[in-house]
Amino acid sequence: MSQAIAIAHSNIALAKYWGKANVEQNLTAVPSLSMTLDALSTRTEVYFDPALSEDELQLDGKQQSGRTKLRVSQLLDRIRAKADTVCRARVISSNNFPTAAGLASSASGFAALAMAASSAAGLRLSSAEISSLSRASSASAARSVFGAYVALNARALSAEPVLNPDEFPLAMLVAVTAKGPKKVGSTEGMTRTAQTSPYYQAWLDRAPAVYDRIRVALLEKQFEALGEAVEESAMMMHASMLAAKPAIRYFRDVTIAAMQRVEDLRDQGIPAYYTMDAGPHVKVLTLPEHAEVVERELRSVAQIQDVISCRPGPAAYLIGDAKVSEAK
Ligand code: DP6
Repeated sequence: MSQAIAIAHSNIALAKYWGKANVEQNLTAVPSLSMTLDALSTRTEVYFDPALSEDELQLDGKQQSGRTKLRVSQLLDRIRAKADTVCRARVISSNNFPTAAGLASSASGFAALAMAASSAAGLRLSSAEISSLSRASSASAARSVFGAYVALNARALSAEPVLNPDEFPLAMLVAVTAKGPKKVGSTEGMTRTAQTSPYYQAWLDRAPAVYDRIRVALLEKQFEALGEAVEESAMMMHASMLAAKPAIRYFRDVTIAAMQRVEDLRDQGIPAYYTMDAGPHVKVLTLPEHAEVVERELRSVAQIQDVISCRPGPAAYLIGDAKVSEAK
């Protein structure tokens, strides 16, 4: 039996990916750029075991079936094909943040799985190859293989690091606004947007220029220019979804209240900018010296349940000597 354990950190896109250039291969239609987060991570153990007749998946202590398990088996199938084996695997995965909170766990989850499973299967893959395997399962996962600031070009097979954390230390406050799983998953939301939104083409046309501004502002360490473009990327993406039929609206009243608070902070001279993904949570980008006050302000917004303070996080990594989990 061969085994490996990997840890990968979640990431939040500063320049958003929404839409696929190729559904089959899961290639993205627009370039994206993210920050890997130190405080949110997934730890995944993979055991290839000849005694198993099918793959097994345990997520946060619970045995899984259905679509979640199928997506894991599909990634394992790609690894089995590369390693020339038919051996099934037991996967034990846990997030260090509550999965029920609906925070993005597929990015860190698939990155940790691709790294642990390829190592357990005896493959010695480069980070780019692990990123490519992760991307085929969930495109945002391609970025979680790398640390700090990471780009995934349109139609790219794998992501690539853009900047080290110490070159431009930023803070991201993740405001958890509502618990429970999201109503429309991102894959489904993208398909509906592409098929029905009159603004989808406008998003595809404009997103690359916003991505360019974000990349340049990051490399030149221009925080205000970065923040403005980050908000623009998120709002343009959400505008394309809002015009879908039926509309895809992830905002709730608390989401709007948090956005308003960030704008108020800016009026008071505190540089902070919001971004949102396929859920009601609000993520706020600021400079480390303002992180504490921004966190305090967000906590005072009624209905915000928790605020997780993050800094740029590390690349995914294998844990040296695989320690066998008690929870098998
Ligand atoms: C809004 O990577 O979850 O978070 O490739 O279909 O699995 P699939 O989608 P996913 O989409 C992420 C969308 C986003 C923006 C982003 O992370 O770039």
